[in-house]
Amino acid sequence: MTQHTPNLKAQKIAGGVHTDQRHDSAHKHVAGEAVYIDDMPEPAGTLHVGLGLSNVAHGTLKTVDLSAVRAAPGVVDVLTYADVPGENDVSPSGMHDDPVLAQGKVQFHGQPIFAVIAETREQARRAARLAKIEYDELPAVISIWDLDTENDKQVTTPLTLKRGDAASAIAAAPRRVKGRMKLGGQDHFYLEGQISLAVPGEDDEVTVYCSTQGPSETQHLVSHVLGVPSHAVTVEVRRMGGGFGGKETQANQCAAIAAIAAKKHKRAVKVRLDRDEDMTATGKRHDFAIDYEVGFDDEGNILGVDYMFALNAGFSADLSGPVGDRALFHCDNAYFYPNVHAKSAPLYTNTVSNTAFRGFGGPQGMVGAERVIDEVAFAVGKDSLEIRKLNFYDQIGTPGERNLTPYHQKVEDCIIQRIVAELEESAQYARRRREIAAFNANSRFIKRGLALTPVKFGISFTKTESNQAGALVHVYADGSVHMNHGGTEMGQGLHLKVAQVVAEEFQIDLDRVKITATTTAKVPNTAPTAASSGADLNGMAAQDAARQIRKRLTDFAAEKYQVPVDQVVFLPNRVRVGNQEISFNDLVKQAYLNRIQLSAAGHYKTPKIHWDRAKGRGHAFYYYAYGAACAEVSVDVLTGEYVVERADILHDTGRSLNRAIDIGQVEGGFIQGMGWLTTEELWWDGKGRLRTHAPSTYKIPLASDRPKIFNVALTDWSEAYEPTIHRSKAVGEPPLPHGMAVLHALSDAVASVAEHKICPRLDAPATPERVLMAIERLRAEAAQAK
Ligand code: MTE
Ligand code: HPA
Ligand code: MOS
Repeated sequence: MTQHTPNLKAQKIAGGVHTDQRHDSAHKHVAGEAVYIDDMPEPAGTLHVGLGLSNVAHGTLKTVDLSAVRAAPGVVDVLTYADVPGENDVSPSGMHDDPVLAQGKVQFHGQPIFAVIAETREQARRAARLAKIEYDELPAVISIWDLDTENDKQVTTPLTLKRGDAASAIAAAPRRVKGRMKLGGQDHFYLEGQISLAVPGEDDEVTVYCSTQGPSETQHLVSHVLGVPSHAVTVEVRRMGGGFGGKETQANQCAAIAAIAAKKHKRAVKVRLDRDEDMTATGKRHDFAIDYEVGFDDEGNILGVDYMFALNAGFSADLSGPVGDRALFHCDNAYFYPNVHAKSAPLYTNTVSNTAFRGFGGPQGMVGAERVIDEVAFAVGKDSLEIRKLNFYDQIGTPGERNLTPYHQKVEDCIIQRIVAELEESAQYARRRREIAAFNANSRFIKRGLALTPVKFGISFTKTESNQAGALVHVYADGSVHMNHGGTEMGQGLHLKVAQVVAEEFQIDLDRVKITATTTAKVPNTAPTAASSGADLNGMAAQDAARQIRKRLTDFAAEKYQVPVDQVVFLPNRVRVGNQEISFNDLVKQAYLNRIQLSAAGHYKTPKIHWDRAKGRGHAFYYYAYGAACAEVSVDVLTGEYVVERADILHDTGRSLNRAIDIGQVEGGFIQGMGWLTTEELWWDGKGRLRTHAPSTYKIPLASDRPKIFNVALTDWSEAYEPTIHRSKAVGEPPLPHGMAVLHALSDAVASVAEHKICPRLDAPATPERVLMAIERLRAEAAQAK
C-alpha cells in the first residue's frame, strides 16, 4: 500500500478503448501460427469424410448403388439420410427444407447425397466417385431472370413496404423512367473453407469444433439432427479463416455430418470441403433482378418510386426471407422517397441455397437505389452527385418531414451531407470532374470515369431475439482476466475490441485480458456473429460482466478500508481507496482471500427496436452507419478492360473502439464490394452446373487490382447517436457497398462515349465483357439518334 500522491499525468492503460491496437492474432496470421480447425492435433483414429454430390439439378433418386463405394480401400462406412438419428434437416428458418443428405430427390447440381467415412480424406474422396446413381430428371429452373414474381414458386413469404401512394405519384410526375437491372451473386471465398471436427464423448455427448459464425445455432441443429438435447452438444470455435456470412448458417451441414459419423463410430470425424466442393455445394450472395420505376421533376427531385426486388433463393429458404427484407430496408440508401412501394420475391430455383453475405441484401437494395439516381441524373442532364444531394434524408437536427423511411422509421442521425461535403473536398471531386472531361475529349481509346456514392446502413437484426448477447468474465486470484463472450472471430478483430472494453472497465493493460475460444458451454443461446453487431452486442455484455465484478471489488474495498464507495476509483492498473493506492492485483488477491466472487456472466439486449413484418412498420434499426466513396477508373474502350486509378473513402464508425481495425474493415469491405460488382462472376451452365468453382475461373480482386491511390479516412468527429458501446458504431458490413463507386465510375466512363446523354444501365458484375458491350450499345444508340 502506497500513500496517494496525485499524479495529474497518470498514465493510461495500454490498450483501452479508442486506441489503435493491431489484431491480437496478426503476428500469428502472417507466421502461419494461428490455429484453425485443420491445424488442431487430430485425436487418434480420426476418420475423414468425402461427399457424394448430385450430378443433376433436379430429379428424383431412382437407384442409389453405393456398393463400389463401400468396397473401396479405407472406407469405414457410407452415410445416407437413413443414418440420421434425429431429423434429416438443418434448416435455420424452421421451414424443414434443408436436408443434411438428399432424401428421395435432389434439387440442385452439387447437393450432397451421401457421405463416405474413410481412414484418410484422399480415400474418402476417391471412393465417393464410385457411386452409381440413377435419377428421374425433372425440369430445372436455373436462373430467376425469366421468372414471374407473382406466380412462380417462392421459398418464403415476400415483404412489401409502402409509404404514401407511389403509383399515383409516379403517374402524376412530370417525368418517369422505368427499367430493370441484373445484379450477380458472389462467392464468399473465405480462405478457410467449411470445416468441422466432431469428437464423441460418453453417453450422448459430442463436441464439435466448427468454423461457424453461429455456435449456438450449430449446437441447436446438431442436437436436432442427432435427436439429443442441446446440453449434450458443445460447439467451439477459436477463429475462422473468414466467414463473410457464409458460415452464418451454412457451417451446420458439415457439423451435422461430422457429428453423426462421430457418434455412430465412436471416433473423431473431420469434414473438410475442398475449394471446388465448397463453391459448388454451399450458398452464396443472392443474385437479384431489380425492376424499378421512378417519377421525378425537372430538377431531379424524386417524387415516387416502385421497386420489385426478385432474389434467387436457390432450392431452400435458408436466410432468403431476411435477406430480401434487408434489400427492401436499403432500397432508399440515403434518400428520402416521398412515395414508395417496394416488394421482394424470394424465388425458388434449382441452384444451391443462397445465404448471408456481408451486407445481407442491403448492398443489393442500395445498388437499385443508385441505379434509379443515375436514371434521374441522365434524364435531367445533371451530374449524378447533384441528384444524390438533392434527395438525401434531412440532416440530423433538421425539423421537417424528409426523414421517414419506407418502413416508417424516422432517420434521426443522418450525417451524410457532412460526409459527402468533406469527401468532395478531400477527393477534389469538382476539379477532377473537369480534368477528366478534358482528358476524355483528347483521348480516343482510354476513357476515364468518376463517381461518388453514399452509404447509409441500418444496424440491428430484424429478428428481435437475435439482438442479445452474453459474456463470461473471470478474474483469477493473480489479477489476470479470462474473457469469453458469444461472438466469433473471423478476422474482423471482434475479440480484440471486446478485450479492450474489458481492459477499460478494470483499468488494466490489455495484455492482462486473455482472449478465449467461443464455446456454447460458457455462453449459451447466442446470436450468430452477423449483422455487424458483434462488438455492439458482445462489447456491452462483457462490459456488464466486468462491471459486476468491479462493483464487488469496490464494495469490498470500501468496507475493508472504511471509505465511501465513491472513494474507490479504478486508476490504470491500480485502485485508489480513500487516499491510498493499491495495485489491481493486490486488491484482487485480498478480495479472493475474503471469499469475494470474482466471476460474472453479463448480458445485453438492444433497446428501442421493434419490427412488425406484416404491417411493414417499425423501428427496425437501432441506428445507422454512414459513409461515402469516390472512385476514378480508366477504361480501354477497345477491350472493356479497366483499372481503378484512385479511391477515396470517408466512413463513419462513431467514436471508434479501434481505428486501426476499423480502417482495415473499411478497406477490405470496399475491395470485396468492388470485386462483387466488377470481376466476380458466377456462371451456371444450362444443366445447372456451376462452372466457376475455383480461382482459375472466378476472379476475386488481387493485390494488383487495388486502387493505385487509396485513401481511407474515418469521420473523427462523429459519435453514435444512441448509447452504444463507448459511442462506437458497427463497421463490418457498411463499407462493402462503397464498391458501388467503382461500378458508377465505370458507368461514367462508358457514358462518355455518347456524350453523357444516355444512361449506360451497366449491369453487375461489370466485367470487361459487360463494359465493352455497354460501350458498343451506347455507340450504336448514339449513332441512331443522329
Ligand atoms: N472481416 C473479416 N476479416 N472476415 C470476415 O469474415 N465478415 C464480415 C465483417 N468483416 C468478415 C469481416 C461480416 S459479413 C460481418 S456481419 C461482420 O464482419 C461480423 O463481425 P462484427 O459484427 O464483429 O463486425
Ligand atoms: N443480418 C445478418 N444476418 C442475419 C440478419 C441480418 O439482418 N437477420 C438474420 N440473420
Ligand atoms: Mo454478416 S453477412 O451479417 O455474416
